[in-house]
Amino acid sequence: MRIALLFLLLPFTHVVLAQEPDIIPRPVEIKSPAQPGKFMITTSTSIVLQGAGLEQSADFLKDYLRTYHGVNLSVVKNAKTKNAILLNYERTNKAIPGGYKLEVKSGSIKISGDNEEGVFYGIQTLIQLLPVAPNKMAGAPVSFVQITDYPRFSYRGLHLDVCRHFFPVSYLKKYIDYIALHKMNYFHWHLTDDQGWRIEIKKYPLLTEVGATRHGTIVGRYPGKTNDSIRYGGFYTQDEIRDVVKYAAARYITVIPEIELPGHASAAIAAYPKLSCFPEERTLPPAKSPWWSGDTTGKQLQQTWGVFPDVFCPSDYTFQFLEGVLDEVVELFPAKYIHIGGDECPKDNWKRSEFCQNLIKERGLKDEHGLQSYFIQRMEKYLNGKGKQIIGWDEILEGGLAPNATVMSWRGEQGGITAASQDHYVIMTPSSHLYFDHKQQTKEDSVTIGNYTPVEKIYGYEPISVKLPEGKEQFILGAQANLWTEYIGNTRKLEYMLFPRMAALSEMLWSPKDKRNFANFEKRLPSQLKRYKRWNINYNAVLK
Ligand code: ACM
Repeated sequence: MRIALLFLLLPFTHVVLAQEPDIIPRPVEIKSPAQPGKFMITTSTSIVLQGAGLEQSADFLKDYLRTYHGVNLSVVKNAKTKNAILLNYERTNKAIPGGYKLEVKSGSIKISGDNEEGVFYGIQTLIQLLPVAPNKMAGAPVSFVQITDYPRFSYRGLHLDVCRHFFPVSYLKKYIDYIALHKMNYFHWHLTDDQGWRIEIKKYPLLTEVGATRHGTIVGRYPGKTNDSIRYGGFYTQDEIRDVVKYAAARYITVIPEIELPGHASAAIAAYPKLSCFPEERTLPPAKSPWWSGDTTGKQLQQTWGVFPDVFCPSDYTFQFLEGVLDEVVELFPAKYIHIGGDECPKDNWKRSEFCQNLIKERGLKDEHGLQSYFIQRMEKYLNGKGKQIIGWDEILEGGLAPNATVMSWRGEQGGITAASQDHYVIMTPSSHLYFDHKQQTKEDSVTIGNYTPVEKIYGYEPISVKLPEGKEQFILGAQANLWTEYIGNTRKLEYMLFPRMAALSEMLWSPKDKRNFANFEKRLPSQLKRYKRWNINYNAVLK
C-alpha cells in the first residue's frame, strides 16, 4: 500500500535514472523525471542568451546543430522562454570553476553555467544527449533530464608535437574542437625541436627560412633502415598563430606554446650556429642511426629521432636571442604560462666547453646540472618580468627548481611529487600512462615508438598519487596526455592514436573519482564511438 502511494507520487518528483544517458566524461549527477518525455529541437527553437558573454557558446551550439542535425536555430537575447534553449548563469562557488546545470523539460532546455566556460561545457553535454544520426523529421529529440556537473581538475590538457611531423592550421582547429568536445581546456603546442622550428619569429627570420625544413627523414622505427631523402617542413606565420589562439579561446581553451631550451635545439642552431658552444663543428648523424640526406657541412636539422648533444650554449648571444624570441612569443600567446622545455639536455658540450666551465666557476655553480638550473632560472626571471609563469619538464628539478616554476612530470610521477612537496604546481603527464604515441594494441599494424598503453590503463590513471605527502594535493593542477609525432605522419594515424584514448583521459580529468568505473565507461563508449564516426574520426576499437 505504501509502495503504491510512493509510485503515485513519483511523477511529481525526480528519481535517479536506472539507465543513465551515455555521457563522457561522466557527470557528477544525473536525474530524470519519472514521467519521461522529449524536447524536440527544430528550426523554430531559439537559442536565448539570458546572460552576457555567451555569444560564442551559442555559436558553437548553433554550428553543431546546423552541421550534424540540419537545423538552423536563431540566437536571440532575453526573448521568449518557450521552445527555447536558455543560456544563463548560476554560480556554484566551487574552488574549480566551470560547472553547470542542464535541465531538459517540456518547452525548454536550460543551461546554467557557473561562468562562461560552464555554459560551454553544458553545451558539450547537450551535444551528447542528441541522437548521433540526424533525425529524418529535421530536428533533434532530447530526453528530459536534469544534470549537475563540475570539473575535478582545473588543468585538463592535450599536447601535440608539430616538429617531428607538421600539421596545418586547418587540422589544428579540428584538434582544438576535439579538446573542446571532451571538456578539456589546455592545448600544449610543442613548436620547436631538433627536426623543425615551427613558429615565425620576425627578429630571427632564419629560424623558419632555414630551421623549418629538414633534408630528409629516417625510414622505419629508430634507428631506421634508410633515409627517405624528402625535404620536409612547415611553419606557422604569426597571423596563423593568432588565428589558432583566437579559435581556441572561443572554445575556452588556453594555448600554451613550448619553446624548447636548452636542449632539443638543433633546428635553431642550424639557423644561427653561434647558439652552439661549438659553432664551427658540423652536425653529424648519430652513429647508431647514420641515415642522412643532403648537405653534411655546417649545422643541420636532425633527420632521425632522439636526443642530440648540440644544445644552446649559455652565452650572452644565446640569452639575447632567446629573449628576442620570447618577446614575440609572449605577444602572440595571452596564456599565463610559457613552456620552456628543459628536458633531455645532454651535458657533453657544456663539459668540454671552456666557456661553460668558466661560467660554472664564476657563478659558483656545482656542475653542469647547476648550469642548467642557472639557464632555466634566468629564463624564468625574464618571463616573470613579462608577467608570465614558466612550465618545464621534470628535468628542471635537477640542480634546483626555478622559484616559480610549474613542473610537468613525464618520467613517471616522482618529479611531480617532489615538486609538489616543495609547494610548486604540477601537471602530471607520466609516460607510463599518458603518452599517446605508445602502442594501444599489443600488435599494431604500423610503426610506433613502442611500449603498450591501452585505453584501460589510461582510464585507470589517478593524478593524485598515493605517494603525495598529505596536504599537497592542491599543487596537482591536473594532467595532460602528450602526442609525440615521430611515427605519426598523417591525420588518420594521429586520430587512431588519439581516439578513444581521449575519452578515457577526459573522464579521468573531469569526473569525480567515485564516478570512475571502467566497466561503466565501456558501456557508455559505443555511443561516443558512433559520434566519432559521425565526426569522421579514425578511431581504434581495441580497449585493452
Ligand atoms: C619528453 O618526452 N621528452 C618530455
